[in-house]
Amino acid sequence: MAGVASAVVTTAVNAGDDPADGWFPESVAVRYDAPGGANAPEVVTPAVDLLEDLADGPVLEFAVGTGRIAAPLAARGVPVSGVESSRAMAARVAGKPGGDAVEVTIGDMTTTRVPGRFSLVYLVFNTIDNVTTQDGQVAVFRNAAAHLRPGGLFLVEVGVPALRRLPPGQDTVPFATTPGADGGGYVGFDRYDVVTQRFTSNHVTVSPDGTGRFRSIPFRYAWPAELDLMARLAGMSLKHRWSDWDRSEFTAESTKHVSVWETGPDT
Ligand SMILES: C[S@@+](CC[C@H](N)C(=O)[O-])C[C@H]1O[C@@H](n2cnc3c(N)ncnc32)[C@H](O)[C@@H]1O
Repeated sequence: MAGVASAVVTTAVNAGDDPADGWFPESVAVRYDAPGGANAPEVVTPAVDLLEDLADGPVLEFAVGTGRIAAPLAARGVPVSGVESSRAMAARVAGKPGGDAVEVTIGDMTTTRVPGRFSLVYLVFNTIDNVTTQDGQVAVFRNAAAHLRPGGLFLVEVGVPALRRLPPGQDTVPFATTPGADGGGYVGFDRYDVVTQRFTSNHVTVSPDGTGRFRSIPFRYAWPAELDLMARLAGMSLKHRWSDWDRSEFTAESTKHVSVWETGPDT
C-alpha cells in the first residue's frame, strides 16, 4: 500500500448522516449494495435457499438492512417482515425486486415488537455481534422467541471468534490486506479484548493520493456455547449447527456457523 494516511476519519458521521442511524448511516447505506462481496449471487442464493426451506409461514428478519436477503426471499413468495434501526438502510428495501412486499419496522431488535407470530426469525451477517453487551444479546434471543409460534425457529449466522489465532500477548487479527493497483489500498483487522469479549473491526482505506479513512466499529463476540445458553434462557434449544448455508458440518476448523434454535411446544 503506497502513501501515508494523512486525513483520518474515526466516526461514522459524515455530512448528511443522521446520528440516529448508528454505524449504518446514509454514507454507508449508499455503498452497501455494491455488486460483489456479500451481494454476489453465490453468497445470497444459498442463504435464501436455506431460509426458504426452513420457513413454514411468515418470517421476520432482525436487522434487515437494505433487504439484501429479505427482498429475494420475499420474491420467492415467503411473507417477510423486518426490524431495522437505520432509516438510511431501511429506505433501500422497497427498491429491490421483492422488497416492496417486505414490511419494515424501524426499531431496535432487542425490544421492538412486530405484530404477528412467525415460523422463523433470522439474524444474519454477524449482526448479533453489533449488540455490544451480554444483556443486549440475551434480549435479542428473548425478543426472537417472543415473535415465534410454538415450534418456531431462530436462525443466527455469525463468525466463530478468531481466538485460536491469538498467540499470548497479541490482540489483533488481520482479515484483509489489499493493495490497490492505483497506489491506494485497504487493510482490515479485528482487535480483541478477551477480558470483556468486546472487539472492534477496523478498516483503513488509503486513496491513491495518500489520504485515508479509518473506521472502527465496536462488537461483542460470543462463543457458540454462550449463544446456546442465551437460547435456553429464552426457552429455545439447539436444533442445527452448520458451518455454512450449504448445511456443511460444523467442525473445530469452522470459521463461522449457521445455528438454528427451536422454541418448545408451550412458547
Ligand atoms: C451488517 S448489516 C446486515 C444487514 C442485513 N441483515 C444483511 O444481511 O445485509 C447490519 C445491520 O444491522 C442493523 N442493526 C444493528 N444493530 C441493530 C439493532 N440493535 N436493532 C436493529 N437493527 C440493528 C444496522 O443498522 C445494519 O443495517
